[in-house]
Amino acid sequence: MDFQQIFNAAPQVQAQAPGRVNLLGEHTDYNDGFVLPTAIEQHTAVYLGFSPNTQHHFYSQDLEAQVNLTSTDPVSEGFASYLIGCVRVLEQLGHTIPPLNVFVTSTVPIGAGLSSSAALEVAMLRALRSLLHLNLDDVDIAKLAQQAEIQYAGVQCGIMDQMASSLADTKHLLFLDTRTLDRQLVPLPEGAAILVIDSGIPRTLAASGYNQRRAECEEAARLLGVKALRDVTDLDAIAQLPEPLQRRARHVITENDRVLEAKQGVSATRFGELMNASHASLRDDYEVSIAGLDQLVTILQSTPEVFGARLTGAGFGGACVALVDVKASPMPYEIAQSVLEQYRSTGHTGQLLIPTKSD
Ligand code: GLA
Repeated sequence: MDFQQIFNAAPQVQAQAPGRVNLLGEHTDYNDGFVLPTAIEQHTAVYLGFSPNTQHHFYSQDLEAQVNLTSTDPVSEGFASYLIGCVRVLEQLGHTIPPLNVFVTSTVPIGAGLSSSAALEVAMLRALRSLLHLNLDDVDIAKLAQQAEIQYAGVQCGIMDQMASSLADTKHLLFLDTRTLDRQLVPLPEGAAILVIDSGIPRTLAASGYNQRRAECEEAARLLGVKALRDVTDLDAIAQLPEPLQRRARHVITENDRVLEAKQGVSATRFGELMNASHASLRDDYEVSIAGLDQLVTILQSTPEVFGARLTGAGFGGACVALVDVKASPMPYEIAQSVLEQYRSTGHTGQLLIPTKSD
């Protein structure tokens, strides 16, 4: 199915946006901290046209589902909530958005922690910018996309995913200071490539667990008398915090340090060590890992060609990212097949997401 077949007319505009994988800097963005994601090949495309009636018509090719609603109807769940969220955040700014025909198709896996929702929001906002000639730059788009997610998808997320989708490319890491939005494209460590494997475990607790962690960090910052945990760099300062707030704060402080070190340009070996330390911190201090992710990470970390590995995204399921030696033989694709086979023996079925077969 394409736009023409669904809506019986040609689209007016088309826009795309990529998913992202985060290499370092997990659960730091809503603490005003530092992150280091990159864009991935998998992306979402949005096609737009004007609706012939008073309703928006949202069609998802991948879900083979259509949702029809006016701008004032209650927001449904699912893919349409992100799309109507984008429409409404623009309306809140005073823009008039006419009823639309929207066709969405995506290669970003859903629920793997690769920001399928940010890709959808950024692609939708890019398409709206182009259709309605809106004066929005790429940072504006990221901020609006984040608002759509917070207000209409119910996740109190930071800005990393939307900034990565809007501003990163697949050839660099995007170093981002999430407080100032200062950013810099930095190269991947020499001789290294990215491997992403989905654990096959759905992120069931993600939204509630995520919002709870965020609230804990805000409480820790309040008790320490700072605006955000980014303002704490000395581990001695958190000794007075009760548990689990002390461990949550320790993760954020040490994770920020890891990003700042990696951003300086370290060897692949050192970068891998930082990723391993990040996983341990997410597992023990932040408690957003689960047994299946730990098993997959352990297999990756004990693979000779792997410099380092960790869960990526919010946790509670989803994908793991590893840095692999490109000079090693076998190549990343073969390394992944062996990892997947070992992972199967733990009773889970994983899936290689990056590199894609064609890489
Ligand atoms: C999700 C959120 C991001 C970020 C990560 C964890 O992807 O959308 O803002 O907080 O989790 O690092």
